[in-house]
Amino acid sequence: IFKIIGMIIIAYLLGSIPTGLWIGKYIYHKDIRKLGSGNIGTTNTFRTLGFKAGVVVLIIDVLKGTLAASQPYFLGVSGTVNPLLIGLFASLGHTASIFDNFQGGKAVATSAGILLAYNPLLFLIACLIFIAVLCLTSMVSMASMIGISAIFVIALFIHDWILSIVAGILTAIVVYRHVSNIQRILSGKESMVSFGLGYYL
Ligand code: G3P
Repeated sequence: IFKIIGMIIIAYLLGSIPTGLWIGKYIYHKDIRKLGSGNIGTTNTFRTLGFKAGVVVLIIDVLKGTLAASQPYFLGVSGTVNPLLIGLFASLGHTASIFDNFQGGKAVATSAGILLAYNPLLFLIACLIFIAVLCLTSMVSMASMIGISAIFVIALFIHDWILSIVAGILTAIVVYRHVSNIQRILSGKESMVSFGLGYYL
């Protein structure tokens, strides 16, 4: 039980690291919470700080989830403690960070990282769905929401109940954190990346 509590705390703290916020603040001297969409995630980092910063935030935010969810493997207890249940706390940390007044990002990259640790094939499938939706709509928010929902549906289909529960919770968190994006999508004001079908329509 102490191991489990320890893993949960580490997962939460790892997830809490507000990568985009800190890179913006300490390297670029900009508060990305006040720029673009105001989010501290990968997309808004790309948007406001540029490509290099975006890639770094993407990699670190994914790794936070992967490392958090890998703890049961490292400790040799993955047979009894499901990595997904530990990883979930990294996504919670990312959205309600102890280093950012319990504010945070939209849980997309970190949730993808959890999936990478649990099942690389499913991670790949999620990435492909994400890329396909991004190319069709040019909206990262849409690609994120559909990507995570797709994993939830796939989990139900393959009868992986723990994954169904965790992906269900993550889908709820991701969609909830995208409420402002959904409002912008509905009013035709969501920002788009400069490629894909949506951009040209
Ligand atoms: O990674 C979050 C993404 O889905 C949307 O980000 O900045 O466009 O709200 P943003």
